[in-house]
Amino acid sequence: FFQHNAEKPLRGRKMLVTAGPTHEPIDPVRYIANRSSGKQGYAIAAALADLGAEVVLVSGPTRLDSPRGVTRQNVESANDMLAACEAALPVDAAIFAAAVADWRVASEADQKIKKKEGRLPSLSLAENPDILATVSALTQGRPALVVGFAAETEAIIENGKAKLARKGCDWIVANDVGTGTGTFGGDENHVFLLTREGVEDWPKQSKDAVARDLAARITTFFQGVDV
Ligand code: CTP
Ligand code: CA
Repeated sequence: FFQHNAEKPLRGRKMLVTAGPTHEPIDPVRYIANRSSGKQGYAIAAALADLGAEVVLVSGPTRLDSPRGVTRQNVESANDMLAACEAALPVDAAIFAAAVADWRVASEADQKIKKKEGRLPSLSLAENPDILATVSALTQGRPALVVGFAAETEAIIENGKAKLARKGCDWIVANDVGTGTGTFGGDENHVFLLTREGVEDWPKQSKDAVARDLAARITTFFQGVDV
C-alpha cells in the first residue's frame, strides 16, 4: 500500500496540459497554423499521468495518439483552447506547452474565398487571447503552479526571463526551436528551466526525458504544498 503511493506521488492532484498548434480558420477550407507537433506536451501529460495525476490534455490538431490514462479535449482555435482550459479548472497545476497562434483572421469567411484573376485577397488579423497570461492572472482559482513554455529562435534565456515576468506564471520552460524545420517537430529538446530562483540549463535530451524531469520537479513542488 505504502509502496503504491510512493510510485504515484501525484495521486489526487488534477493537472491541465495544453499541447500542439492551434488552427485559425481563414475560410471553411483554409487555416493559419504553425509547425508544433504536440510531442512535448503529450509527453508531459503522459509523465504526469504515470505519476498518478488526473490529467486533462487540451490539444490542438496533432497526429499523435492520446497518452494512456489522460482525458483529451480536442480543440482547433486559440479561442476554443481558452474555453476548454477554463472548463477544466480548477486544477492544482497547469502546464501550457501549446504553440498557440498569436493572431487569428479577424473575420472568417463563411464560404470558400474564390480566386479572382489579378486580385489578391488580404487578411486582417486580430490578436488571440493569451491563455497562459489569463490563467496566471486569476485571483480566484489560480492553479498553485502555472508553467509556461517559451519558444525562441534567439536570446533564449533573455526572452524567457522577460516572458516569466510578463506572463505572471511561476516557471518557464524555455526552448530553442531553431530557425530551420528541424527542432520544432523533432524528438529532442534542449531546455532551460526559469524560476524565480534562477536559471537551470538542462542537457539536450529526448522530449520524453524532458517530460519525466519536469514531472519530477512538479512532484517535488507539491511535496511542499499542503492542500
Ligand atoms: N501562450 C498562450 N496563449 C497565447 C500565446 C502563448 O497560452 N495566445 C502560451 C504558450 O503556450 C507558452 C507561452 O504562452 O506557454 C509563451 O508562448 P510564446 O509564443 O513563446 O510567447 P508569446 O508571448 O506569444 O511571445 P512571442 O510569440 O512573440 O515570442
Ligand atoms: Ca507566440
